Amino acid sequence: MDGSIDIGDRGLEPVPSKASITQDDKMERLEAVPLFGSCTRHQLRAVARIAGVFDAAADTILIRAGEPGEEFFLIVEGTARVHVSAKKRLRLRPGDFFGEMSLLDGGPRSATVVAETPLRLLVISRRNFRTLLEKVPGLTDSLLETLCRRVRQAERSLDVSRSGTPQ
Ligand code: CMP
Repeated sequence: MDGSIDIGDRGLEPVPSKASITQDDKMERLEAVPLFGSCTRHQLRAVARIAGVFDAAADTILIRAGEPGEEFFLIVEGTARVHVSAKKRLRLRPGDFFGEMSLLDGGPRSATVVAETPLRLLVISRRNFRTLLEKVPGLTDSLLETLCRRVRQAERSLDVSRSGTPQ
């Protein structure tokens, strides 16, 4: 998972959403996210308290490979591209999350992530990530499953690039 590529400096940053988002709006958005499907209202309220809502213009670089990571992102609207390698890109859609790896192991960002379209994001800081893991039942399992899937994909890509065909 080497996202070390040069995609330039577009000078865009996610900004706190200007839409007037009440705690109830946030709850509604959270309820629509499959990852939070098994949360009680009480647990969702706790998540709504720690999650910020941010908007990012298309082409905003949300994460740069190699930099330290301080946030976990969940896509509410729009799509993002993960630059897994110079040749490989993956699309993330509403309900998908990214940025969990650096928060889990403390290492640098493993890939660059760019907004493909205008995005609305829920953003949770490192400080609150542990609270999120405690509050959302099954989140640790989902993170592990996603990580396993990403490792398998990365291994398949390595096999393909070594031999020219999938193993
Ligand atoms: P992190 O390493 O914190 O920052 C870059 C993020 O890109 C990473 O967390 C994952 O969320 C995501 N990512 C890295 N590799 C892949 C991959 N192979 N497939 C999907 N997402 C990835």
